[in-house]
Amino acid sequence: MASRIPQSFIDELVSRVDIVEVIDERVPLKKAGRDYMACCPFHEEKSASFSVSQTKQFYYCFGCGAHGTAIGFLMDYAHLEFTEVIHELAQRSGMTVPREAVADDERTQTADLFELLERASHFFQKQLRDHNDATVAVDYLKSRGLSGETAAHFGLGFAPPGWDGLLKSLGTDLELRQALLRAGLTIEKGQDASYDRFRNRIVFPIRDRRGRVVGFGARALGDDTPKYLNSPETPVFHKGQELYGYFEARKATRQLDSLFVVEGYMDVVALTQFGITNAVATLGTAATADHISRLFRTTPNVIFCFDGDSAGRRAAWRAAQNLLPLFRDGWLASFMFLPEGEDPDSLVRSRGKIGFEELAREAISLSTFLFEHLSAEVDLSNLEGRARLFELARPMLTQLTEAPAFANLARKQLQQLSGMDGSELSRLLPQGGRAPRRTVARRPNGPGSPSLVRKAITYLLHHPELGSLIGSTDQLSNLDHAGTTLLVALLELTKSSPTLTTGAIIERFRTHDEGRHLAKLVVESSPVLDEGLEQEFIDTIGKLGEMVEEQRFEALAAKAKLGPLSSEDEREFKQLVSRPRERTSGG
Ligand code: CTP
Ligand code: MN
Repeated sequence: MASRIPQSFIDELVSRVDIVEVIDERVPLKKAGRDYMACCPFHEEKSASFSVSQTKQFYYCFGCGAHGTAIGFLMDYAHLEFTEVIHELAQRSGMTVPREAVADDERTQTADLFELLERASHFFQKQLRDHNDATVAVDYLKSRGLSGETAAHFGLGFAPPGWDGLLKSLGTDLELRQALLRAGLTIEKGQDASYDRFRNRIVFPIRDRRGRVVGFGARALGDDTPKYLNSPETPVFHKGQELYGYFEARKATRQLDSLFVVEGYMDVVALTQFGITNAVATLGTAATADHISRLFRTTPNVIFCFDGDSAGRRAAWRAAQNLLPLFRDGWLASFMFLPEGEDPDSLVRSRGKIGFEELAREAISLSTFLFEHLSAEVDLSNLEGRARLFELARPMLTQLTEAPAFANLARKQLQQLSGMDGSELSRLLPQGGRAPRRTVARRPNGPGSPSLVRKAITYLLHHPELGSLIGSTDQLSNLDHAGTTLLVALLELTKSSPTLTTGAIIERFRTHDEGRHLAKLVVESSPVLDEGLEQEFIDTIGKLGEMVEEQRFEALAAKAKLGPLSSEDEREFKQLVSRPRERTSGG
């Protein structure tokens, strides 16, 4: 779906936009040498360590490690989504965002689904007012203390009892009946027959961040099971991406200072009724990576709310684990635990807004939670316990690749708690905050090889013009090594478009499996382009080529052990045996 805006347009846009102008409008920049500097907008500081490179079209903060392109900057600074940024940048460049023609068919189809879901939501709301059996539903909502105003604010509705209330009302022709199925509103029952999915339930429309209804949650009126039914995954509804109440929360407050993440629909609704309008819920799942990045893109301060019982503690622990690899310096994640037997809905009813907020102030930070939890599992009064604490904490700290400052402080804390010597801790737990270990060298195949591929990629990123020094990539593409595909793709891109900036290349690979983390390679080093570097780059690619030959040689040698080689293999083998190999030994 994201590919609806053609890549060629994004390329064109990125080449027209100047990162210095984009940032300078929001964070005034001062020229310093070849680059521009300012106080970093992503962390508190007194002296400027935020630098912007015009040639690379890339920014980097030496203080907190924040980095990215013009697009990434706007996403983080102005809390925008990728497509929103594209539209904003296009507008200021006087360009119109085109639509991909091939997606036309699919687009009209999803547009139809949005409209149908909106009509279904209206149908349910109308039933809550007019249906003969609606009194049961209205009484239920009243018994839970919900005001009519709140119900209307969230568009709550009533799915009537019976099998075809919605189907009869909206499924007036075959095409619409098929669309109802695709929207997850009805369930298929044999040949061209279907029935309503939601029956005799309160329905909560789930809106995407633009306010479009994409699905529903539906609660039984009494003790029927299951208590909740949700829309299935559909072309427009992806449970792992949506946050219930997000649209409403953003509508209530343009610039959200914080967000509460709770578990249930009723929690969001009740909190809102009591004036806590910044609450969202995941839809019966743990917070996914998509959820987490959406949350922190909206606000730097997210409070995860859990029950105080052991299940709540476990859920909180899982959430914390999901958070670690994504966590960035500048984010504030805290964990709030409710008294046993309470959920946010019941708590806000019994203690009101002030009571809830009081408890929220007792929320503990991510680091406190991590260390408290781990410390409780060991006996810190003896050496064995403290050594065990270190072992338990180690895998977590190594996951903090996006938050170097936080990782550093967490190491200090671990050092204090375990009483371990600082240098010993560094030896056992090398500081790896910025090492993008999982980007390129996922499975090393031989000594030296991961660093060679990575080195070539890093040089190319810094100096895309190096690509033109390389001839064909045919041989290289046979290299059996993680990162090879990425390197070949980068070489081909820079050969065909030698004027792309570093930032433009990074944007190109935003959704690429291996290329998503390219920005991290850029901030690791900054090789200066001179003749020495050019030669080193050529040599590096040459060495990789030799590795391909080496791999081929070994494969043929192994094959020869199993039986005679074909004449073609034989010829290749002989060539490989007699190849010049002096350069390999030097690396
Ligand atoms: N949930 C679900 N399916 C279920 C039970 C729960 O999808 N069978 C999801 C719903 O999103 C629900 C959330 O998990 O809102 C939390 O569940 P729970 O705490 O059991 O319900 P509450 O939201 O507290 O609802 P209520 O107060 O009405 O019991
Ligand atoms: Mn509840």
